[in-house]
Order: sequence, then C-alpha cells, then structure tokens
Amino acid sequence: MAAATRYLVAPSEDVPEGGRCVVDVAGRTIGVFRFDGRLAAYENVCPHQGGPVCQGRLVSRVTEVLDAEKRSRGTDFDTSDPHIVCPWHGFEFSLGSGAHPGRERIRLRGFPVEERGGNVYVTA
Ligand code: FES
Repeated sequence: MAAATRYLVAPSEDVPEGGRCVVDVAGRTIGVFRFDGRLAAYENVCPHQGGPVCQGRLVSRVTEVLDAEKRSRGTDFDTSDPHIVCPWHGFEFSLGSGAHPGRERIRLRGFPVEERGGNVYVTA
C-alpha cells in the first residue's frame, strides 16, 4: 500500500461556507465541503451504484416532529446536519459523518482535509 500524500485542492476562497469544490486528485475525484466552519472531504463515488454523489444537491436533514404522545406532527429541517443527495437515485448522506441517515454502515469514503496558509489540502 502506497503512503498517503497531501495534495493541494484549491485556495480557501474556492470552498466558501455552505459551498463545495470537486477536484481530481491522485486519480480520484474528491469533493471538499465547508459547513458550520469546518471542512470535510469525500470521494465522488456513491456507495449505492457509483454515482457522482459530491455533485448532488445540499439539503438539511429532514426530521419528524413528535408530540408528547409520540404522534407525528409533520416534518422539519435540522439545519445543524447538512446532507448531500446523490443525483442518481437520491441516497442521502450526512456531510458531518459521511453516513446514510437510515443505515449508518453505508458511508461515503472520507479523506483527511486541512487548511493552511490560505489553501485547502486533502490527504489521499
Ligand atoms: S448511485 Fe447514488 S443513489 Fe444510486
């Protein structure tokens, strides 16, 4: 197995808060996301059937609102948990964990990401 290498992704301003940058690095396509003041990087390959998941729509997690008797009172958005939706068949993943919200073992492949000197780097 080859040692991991740190790669320059983009200048920091190319990954704004709430935004993303999808780049080719070391023979892979990787999406870098900034949300809640942090960065996350995932391979642009959906674990379902290989779709370009990092190019999907960004949405807040949908939660069910329950009353005191646990009856449904509709749905709401949890803005503290941004998700990405794969454009091929709609599988959804948490940007914070990379996991599918209903099946935690189905996950995006993540990579270490850091910001230094005004640039964003991924280790792959
Ligand atoms: S390939 Fe992503 S949901 Fe099917």
